Amino acid sequence: MIVSLEKKLPFNIIAMTTMAIINGMCFSSLYAATDVVIGDERAVKQHLEQSDLSNYSFKQIVKHGQVLFDARFTVLDGAGRPAATSAEVPVKRRKGNVPSLFRTAGPDANACSGCHNQPSSGGAGDFVANAFTAEGVTDFEFDTVDPQFSNERGTPHLHGSGYVELLAREMSIDLQAIRAKAVAKARSTKRTVAVKLISKGVSFGELSAHADGFIDINRIDGVDHDLVVRPFGQKGVFTSLRQFSINAMNAHHGIQSDERWGMQWTHSNDFDEDDVKREITSGDISAVTLFQASLPLPISVLPENKVLKHAAVEGERLFVKAACDQCHRQTLPLRALNFVEPGPFNLAGNLRQTDGQLVYKAELSEAGLKKDANGNWLIPIFSDLKRHVIADADKPHFANEGLSQRFSARDEFMTAKLWGVGSTAPYGHRGDVTTLMDVILHHGGAAKESRLQFEGLTDLEQRKIVEYLKTLQLTPVNTLVNN
Ligand code: HEC
Ligand code: HEC
Repeated sequence: MIVSLEKKLPFNIIAMTTMAIINGMCFSSLYAATDVVIGDERAVKQHLEQSDLSNYSFKQIVKHGQVLFDARFTVLDGAGRPAATSAEVPVKRRKGNVPSLFRTAGPDANACSGCHNQPSSGGAGDFVANAFTAEGVTDFEFDTVDPQFSNERGTPHLHGSGYVELLAREMSIDLQAIRAKAVAKARSTKRTVAVKLISKGVSFGELSAHADGFIDINRIDGVDHDLVVRPFGQKGVFTSLRQFSINAMNAHHGIQSDERWGMQWTHSNDFDEDDVKREITSGDISAVTLFQASLPLPISVLPENKVLKHAAVEGERLFVKAACDQCHRQTLPLRALNFVEPGPFNLAGNLRQTDGQLVYKAELSEAGLKKDANGNWLIPIFSDLKRHVIADADKPHFANEGLSQRFSARDEFMTAKLWGVGSTAPYGHRGDVTTLMDVILHHGGAAKESRLQFEGLTDLEQRKIVEYLKTLQLTPVNTLVNN
C-alpha cells in the first residue's frame, strides 16, 4: 500500500483534497490512483514504506527511485533544514538568518539530477555542479569556497553503481574472512600469524594476529582498518548507495530520512523543524538506491573512423604497457549478481539487515557482462577500489584539498573508476581538469612509475591511450516525463 506522509497542509488545501480524491481506481501500478490535490506543489506525491516493497515489481520500485532522484524538492516535500545541519548525524543548527538554499554549505540543489545529469539522470556533472563537502558538524555555515572549510568535488556518474557495491561487499567479506582465519589460527597455535590481505587480486597490505587476540593493523593499505571496502565518494569512504543517498538527501536538499533523523534516534519526526514530518521513508531510500544500483553498465564504443579505431585498439595495449591497469583494473571478478538491500555492512543510522524490516532481494542484469574461467562476472570498472597516494612534490595537483576526510590523508584518493570516462569531462576529483591528457600527467605518488612510463611513450602513443579512454562511454537513460 502507498502511504501519504503525515504533513501539515493549510486547511483550505485539505478541503480541496477531500473533494478531489478520485475514488474507485485500483492500485494497478504505483502511480495509477494517487489522490489528486489541486495546486499540489509537492515534487513527491507518493511515499513507499519498506514493508510495501514486496507488493511492487522491481521495475515499479526503480521507477519510484527515479522519481525521487529527479524530484525538484519543494518546501512542501520538506526541502530545506532550518534547524539541522548537513552533518551526517543529526546535529541542530544555530538559530539565525539562514538562507533556505545556499551554494556552499547547502542545501545546494533542488534535485539529485540537478548535478548528476550528464548525459542523463544518474550521470556526471559539469564543474558548475561541484559540491563543497565538509563533515559539517562545526563549520556548517561556511560561505566561502576556501579549501580550509570544505573539499570541493566534481560530480561522478553513477552508472553501474550496483555492481560497484556488490564488488565492495564481496571484497569486504574476503578480507574479513582472512582476518578471522588468522585470529583463529593465532589462538589455536599460540603464535603470531601474519597474513596478506588480498581480494580479487588486489592487495590491501597485511596484518598480524597475536595469540592474545591483539591485531596489528599498521600494515593495512588503502582500505579502512575495519576491512570494509568503501567504494563510494572519491576518497572511498562511503559504504553503500543507501548511506550515500541518506547523506545526500540531507546535505543537498534538506530532506531528512526517517531512518536516521526520525523518532527512534531523535525523538522527533521533524528534526529540522520545517513542519514536514518523516520527509523520506526507508522504502523511498531503498527505491532511490535500487534506481542507482540498476543504472546501466558503461559501455565501450569504438570510433567508426578506421584510423581512430585502430588507434583506440592500440591504446588499450599501451594502457597496459604503461601499467595503468596496476590500479585501473580493467575488470574485477564478481561472484554473484544478487543485490540485497539493505546491504550487510551498513552502520546504525542506515537501515541494517538486523533491524527486523523487510530485506529486499533483486538480481542485477547480466546483459553485456562476460564471465571468466571460474564463472565470475567480469565487471569492467577500471578500478581496484583501493585508496592510493596520488600526489607528490613534483605532481602536487591532486593534493589540492585542505581537509582530510575520515581516516584518509589529504593526498590519498580511491582509484577513479574509468568506465564511462569518455562521457564525463571535466576530470579529477575537483573536476578542474579539462582533458584526459592533463589528468594523466597530474598522476604522482604511487602512480609515479606508471606516469613516467606514459611520459616515456611517443606523443602518438600517448594520444592512442587517450583515444582508448574516449571509447569508455555512458548510455543515456530515459528521462521521466511524468514528474
Ligand atoms: C550539488 C551537486 C550534487 C547533488 C545535488 C547530488 N550529488 Fe551526488 N555527488 C556529487 C559529488 C560532488 C559527488 C562526489 C562526492 C565525493 O567525492 O565525496 C557525488 C557522489 C555521489 C555518489 C557516490 C558515487 C561514487 O561512485 O563515488 C552517490 C551514490 C551520489 N552522489 C548520489 C546522489 C544522490 C542520491 C543525490 C540526491 C539525493 C545526489 N547524489 C545529489 C554531487 C551532487
Ligand atoms: C597508483 C594507482 C594509479 C595508477 C598506476 C594510475 N592511476 Fe589513474 N587515477 C588514480 C587515482 C587515485 C585517480 C583519482 C585522482 C583524483 O582525481 O584525485 C586517478 C584518476 C585518473 C583519471 C581521471 C578520471 C576522472 O574521471 O577524473 C584518468 C583518466 C586516469 N587516472 C588515467 C590513468 C592512466 C592513463 C594511467 C596510466 C598512465 C593511470 N591512470 C595510472 C590511480 C592511478
